[in-house]
Amino acid sequence: MTGKVAVPATAKRKRRKNIEQGISNVEAKVPNMVNTNDYLLRVAGLKTYFPVKKGLLQRTIGYVKAVDGISFGIQAGQTLGLVGESGCGKTTVARSIVRLVPATEGSVVFDQTDVLSADRVKLRELRRQISLIFQDPFGSLNPRMTVGNIIGESLKVQKKAAGSELIERVTALLSKVGLSPDHINRYPHEFSGGQRQRISVARALALEPKLVICDEPVSALDVSIQSQILNLLKDLQDEFGLTFLFIAHDLAVVEFFCDIVAVMYMGKIVERAAKEELYRNPLHPYTRALMSSIPQVERDPSPSRRGRRTTLGGEVPSALNPPAGCAFHPRCPLAEGVCLKQMPVLEEKGDYEGHFVACWKCQKKLIIDNG
Ligand SMILES: Nc1ncnc2c1ncn2[C@@H]1O[C@H](COP(=O)(O)OP(=O)(O)OP(=O)(O)O)[C@@H](O)[C@H]1O
Ligand code: SF4
Ligand SMILES: [Mg+2]
Repeated sequence: MTGKVAVPATAKRKRRKNIEQGISNVEAKVPNMVNTNDYLLRVAGLKTYFPVKKGLLQRTIGYVKAVDGISFGIQAGQTLGLVGESGCGKTTVARSIVRLVPATEGSVVFDQTDVLSADRVKLRELRRQISLIFQDPFGSLNPRMTVGNIIGESLKVQKKAAGSELIERVTALLSKVGLSPDHINRYPHEFSGGQRQRISVARALALEPKLVICDEPVSALDVSIQSQILNLLKDLQDEFGLTFLFIAHDLAVVEFFCDIVAVMYMGKIVERAAKEELYRNPLHPYTRALMSSIPQVERDPSPSRRGRRTTLGGEVPSALNPPAGCAFHPRCPLAEGVCLKQMPVLEEKGDYEGHFVACWKCQKKLIIDNG
């Protein structure tokens, strides 16, 4: 991205009006609640803790707070990118949403249905509407099943198609993802990494889901193949009006694909904003450090990014024993007194409505911009 993006006059007016009337956005008041109704997926205060056990009696000696109170919403047809370093809890968010791991606290509402309290029948229906695409196209496809059986399995299990209709639907899916109908009787090992991920995409689309959760879908692929898969996902989104939760550790991939970006650090969202705003005006020191590692930003920095290069040093602290105060403070070049004692809350800051940041110093945006 180059050039300065102007704050739309309507956004400014809306914000001023809100402030004048004292009716700021619900999220501005309570950032951990996302409770407007126009979201296909709403996650509020989600926590997923894993107990750590020790000794013969397997006593619980602590918890890994893999997801620690995160909230976001995704409107139908939108893509929300969840980004952060390895171990920050991205996959656990995805698994908690579809109840592959039990959430400890919070709520997940999909299309007006409370996912976390859904009974078995409802959960089965929900899993028809929410598909997952995983990082590893090698491990996620059963090597003993033909491509036709892999893609058609869910249609058979859910009794959506059988016989010649099933073959027709699988063939149509293969064409949609750019594979040949002749591939139907082949096995996964006969395909390249990119082709296998196309098979995963076809499988994910078989039941015509509303939401697709992509967990690092291109991380394991060559750079040249990554863009092909991302373009395929974008085309399918346009054609079928899909909604995506897109997980990645790479901000460059997210910039291409997402409408809204949420940056995670140690189980929490530390910054969330519309994509254009986040890339134009990253506020959290962690986001800024992640941005610094995007090659094109270093090659051609826009005026608004110049002079902001931040190096991310140090290790991610242990999730079992997180630091007091702001969890990022041991690695943060701006850390000072309050950061070591009090955890910052996610609050609306920055120029645009909907730009949330959890950082004490981001109150004073100019200090960071100039310093
Ligand atoms: N089933 C589990 N039992 C115990 N701890 C777990 C379990 N699953 C994940 N964790 C821990 O929770 C934390 C978050 O893991 P998670 O896999 O969600 O991170 P991630 O952001 O997806 O990382 P990556 O980018 O490497 O995939 C890590 O500390 C991990 O070790
Ligand atoms: S709260 Fe303090 S330690 Fe945390 S990111 Fe902001 S400046 Fe850094
Ligand atoms: Mg993961």
